[in-house]
Amino acid sequence: MFETGPLHGSKRDQYQQLLEQARGLLYGEHDRVANAANLSALVFHALPGLNWVGFYFYDGRELVVGPFQGKPACVRIALGRGVCGTAAATRRTQRVDDVHAFEGHIACDAASRSELVVPLYQGDALIGVFDLDSPLPARFDADDQAGLEALAAAFVDSLALPTRAAA
Ligand code: SME
Repeated sequence: MFETGPLHGSKRDQYQQLLEQARGLLYGEHDRVANAANLSALVFHALPGLNWVGFYFYDGRELVVGPFQGKPACVRIALGRGVCGTAAATRRTQRVDDVHAFEGHIACDAASRSELVVPLYQGDALIGVFDLDSPLPARFDADDQAGLEALAAAFVDSLALPTRAAA
């Protein structure tokens, strides 16, 4: 059983602890669905004030919903559409204090008020996005962005092909 202790200290300290928990959780596993599912569950239960945490994966044409925690969500999102499609197309994290003010925001859960979406790239190849929604306005600040970008990077790192043991 994977035990996660409570987070303590400053917000940055807490993200450091969460990152270490995530690395432990993903260690030795390279399966994208398994790691996305476990990371979604870890983050959803560790951080307060969230109503959706999960992944959309790029299928070569558009974003398709992957493992998540929260209410059922929109299945497909075109690149450039909504907060997720904008993060994927621009390769830049989208931190949106008020989703109602974001042109083209796609409302999956009407309760969502703010959102943070981190694009996931392996080199130049788009993998998908890591998406977090909150019912609170302006839930995510710069420390959240940095902490969640580090967690997203740990996810991308976990997908690297296992190195073969020398024969
Ligand atoms: N709000 C997102 C859609 C995904 S859900 O929040 C889970 C967007 O505008 O891309």
